[in-house]
Amino acid sequence: MRVLVVGSGAREHALCWSLAASPLVKTVLCAPGNAGIARDAELVPIAAEAVDELVAFARRERIDLVVVGPERPLVLGLVDRLAEAGVRAIGPSAAAARLEGSKAFTKELCARHGIPTAAFRVFEARERDAARTYIEARGAPIVVKADGLAAGKGVTVAATVEEALAALDAAFDGAFGEAGARVVVEEFLEGDEASLFALCDGRDALVLGTAQDHKRAFDGDRGPNTGGMGACSPAPPLPPAMVERAMAEIVRPTLAAMAAEGTPFRGILYAGLMIGPTGPRLVEYNVRMGDPECQVVLPRLMTDLGQLLFGAADGMLGRMSVRFYPTHTLGVVLATRGYPGPVGRGSELRGLEAAEAVEGVHLFHAATRKEGGRWLADGGRVLTVVGSGATLAEARDRAYAAVDRIDWPEGFCRRDIGWRALAASPGPARGG
Ligand code: AMP
Ligand code: GLY
Repeated sequence: MRVLVVGSGAREHALCWSLAASPLVKTVLCAPGNAGIARDAELVPIAAEAVDELVAFARRERIDLVVVGPERPLVLGLVDRLAEAGVRAIGPSAAAARLEGSKAFTKELCARHGIPTAAFRVFEARERDAARTYIEARGAPIVVKADGLAAGKGVTVAATVEEALAALDAAFDGAFGEAGARVVVEEFLEGDEASLFALCDGRDALVLGTAQDHKRAFDGDRGPNTGGMGACSPAPPLPPAMVERAMAEIVRPTLAAMAAEGTPFRGILYAGLMIGPTGPRLVEYNVRMGDPECQVVLPRLMTDLGQLLFGAADGMLGRMSVRFYPTHTLGVVLATRGYPGPVGRGSELRGLEAAEAVEGVHLFHAATRKEGGRWLADGGRVLTVVGSGATLAEARDRAYAAVDRIDWPEGFCRRDIGWRALAASPGPARGG
């Protein structure tokens, strides 16, 4: 089989690496990929959002399965276009991608189908006064979210009413462009945050794993929000029994609701959950793997990823199951100084081979380029260094031992990835 992975981050590197090991997959291609991915896949020089070109390429090259990494091409309808062209793909239709593309859509779906999530109201820009009154009546803490895709910047967890009102004004005054034309105001959820990844075929779903992300740029969860500075798997708040509850109370009802409404969800559903005293509640959905979560979830997967993805594309998940290695994984993101703001490019990373020689360590590349045998940084998040171990502490020690072998003065990373999970002192890994 010939599989095309769309995207160019460390998430897509992990997908290519995992698929390259599948006995079902003869060739892995990646569009556009990066220099590190070139070790595991043939690079195709087409941008991830160039829908027409990707569809033409997939047809011409007789691709058996397209795996879409990032959300933008999904929201742009890449999977719909591939389906029209007769090409199988993993990822939702544009209609089903609204689970990520519109927070209001998701909240209203949850309300219609009794899926546990924070109490909420949706407001249009012309309802600014009603929104202000609602915030004042509910009080703080309270959460204000731009409706659409705002690159992770559209959410304000407000500690005071004033902060919430300022966030409301910012959204309605255009700080997030079109994404802020509608705003969701919702209850602040208490609990432990964790993410659940489910592979879905429109009807059935299988758990691919659980993880905890670290969104803030600096140690101690300080600094600006980023795409994610590190992750670990499995997530302590989601032991197997809690995963089963989240599947039964949140993921499967969502699949049933999407199917009943004529927009079945096929692809990977990323459920951001808050585990509180009453059990799991949905914070948000994404319609793809997380980055860096993918880099820690896939190395724990014992079942062949190729088999699972073809099974999902063919609607066969009801007859399949997933097994996991009883290991922990921990991934540390290395980013160019200045990230998530603007960054310079072209600084050299030394010691990558030495880093990869650490036992139980694997490097996934996000933004590297190779020039005359030297690895150069080519963006914000540059690498994810993943350690595996029998315990989370061992996984962490291995990941940071590898990080310490990388000589890159222009880069930085967090030194405390996994702190929350380590404080929960998980024993041997069970389940996803
Ligand atoms: P989101 O983009 O929806 O994932 O929100 C970003 C982050 O804000 C989440 O990962 C949570 O840490 C936090 N957050 C979002 N909604 C809530 C909520 N209702 N209660 C508490 N924290 C929230
Ligand atoms: N790491 C968060 C995300 O992929 O959305």
